[in-house]
Amino acid sequence: GKEWTNVSELVEEIAGSEVLIRGRVHTNRPVSSKLGFVILRQSGFTVQCVVTESKERNVSVNMVKFLKQLSGESFVDVIGVVVLPKEPLTGTTQQVEIQVRKVYCVNSALQKLPLNVEDAARSEADIQAGKPGANQDTRLNNRVIDLRTPANQAIFRIQCHVQIAFREFLLSKGFLEIHTPKLIAGSSEGGAAVFRLEYKGQPACLAQSPQLHKQMAICGDLERVFEVGAVYRAEDSFTHRHLCEFIGLDVEMAIHKHYSEVMDIVGELFPFIFTKLEERCSKELEAIRKQYPFQPLKFLPKTLTIPFAEGIQMLKEAGVEADPLGDLNTEVERKLGQLVLEKYNTEFYILHHYPSAVRPFYTMPCADDSNYSNSFDVFIRGEEIISGAQRVHDPELLKEQAVRFGIDVDTIKTYIDSFRYGAPPHGGFGVGLERVVMLFCGLNNIRKTSLFPRDPLRLAP
Ligand code: 4AD
Repeated sequence: GKEWTNVSELVEEIAGSEVLIRGRVHTNRPVSSKLGFVILRQSGFTVQCVVTESKERNVSVNMVKFLKQLSGESFVDVIGVVVLPKEPLTGTTQQVEIQVRKVYCVNSALQKLPLNVEDAARSEADIQAGKPGANQDTRLNNRVIDLRTPANQAIFRIQCHVQIAFREFLLSKGFLEIHTPKLIAGSSEGGAAVFRLEYKGQPACLAQSPQLHKQMAICGDLERVFEVGAVYRAEDSFTHRHLCEFIGLDVEMAIHKHYSEVMDIVGELFPFIFTKLEERCSKELEAIRKQYPFQPLKFLPKTLTIPFAEGIQMLKEAGVEADPLGDLNTEVERKLGQLVLEKYNTEFYILHHYPSAVRPFYTMPCADDSNYSNSFDVFIRGEEIISGAQRVHDPELLKEQAVRFGIDVDTIKTYIDSFRYGAPPHGGFGVGLERVVMLFCGLNNIRKTSLFPRDPLRLAP
């Protein structure tokens, strides 16, 4: 058997050699009964294959004809010789051509596909210039085709690298990777946004976060833990940033004195991730930028932290009234993001010391003023990507807060009991992976960064 050559390896240095390649038919351009051009694509790289009828090379008109009828996106194997083109090529990533000797069709695609890869890869500027595009629903309905575009190939490599850097950093700081159950008895964040199900005759739900069990891991002396796992939210939010299932990056840690220990981890972790993305994914970022232009994220090596009250004051000075004991809505968060950018030249910052009323039941109130809490949110480009806090480790206070938030404490009895057996002060945070990728790359919709997104209307593909 002949060795396979990757399309990316087809370069001028190997001109003259015969290669065996497998790829998809990217475009097929028949010229005459004796000549045709097919561009093959493999892992985002493309090469032009030329088939010319020739007696001495044993290429018949039938072979030219066979090539002509191959449908776009079919898988083919080609044996041919690497040749230098007469003129520089513009439509392919590779600067050599393949003079075809033999072609085999491995598996053909439908003649007419529901989505054309080239249309799916079109930038806004191209579409405005009159080239055909494809809308987001068509693309998501045909996600397996949509995923083949260079920008999408890049997005999911970047997603993978966010996870790699997240792990790398936390492991280096002595954290342990864990897996908490996704089938749980009660809701973990409170509220109505849970998927209910029946667990062997018992009411149960899909975990809205690893919150309760990551804290229980701390009660079990695991000290510093993190998790990368699916999170389920039954919310009816039709926004650019809410999914019903997303990947949560969660951290929980024992602390000695102050919840700033948790913020210190966040403040170091994210500049680390961003720097690694810039170092390791420059090609991917370039591929995304071609379809969706964006400016590199502005962040400081030492992460900026701002008290909530100062944020309210900044808004006030800019003529935006916000309730000092309430939550910030999306629009106000964006506005604050702009103000912070102007004043501190960063699009990544931590806002801390939030009002207690807008935080989940397990959040530690401030010792000196229970209207405020030991909690924080983190923003990229004016949008929330993380929320975190110190947790209540006193079982009585925890129970009292749960009741106050309308939670059926019977469903979280084992969680509350965990703190009766002795628990260290602790805190942590949760990040949405899809939001990190979306906002780092300045994308406008979270569905772009979810492989097969689940939203209130979408359970397929
Ligand atoms: O703010 P959330 O709900 O916080 C928690 O789950 C806490 N248990 C975290 C903690 O440790 N204190 O969710 C955390 C993050 C958000 O900041 C956001 O990035 C993302 O998860 N997120 C969503 N992403 C996509 N779709 C949704 N519906 C999301 N809801 C939250």
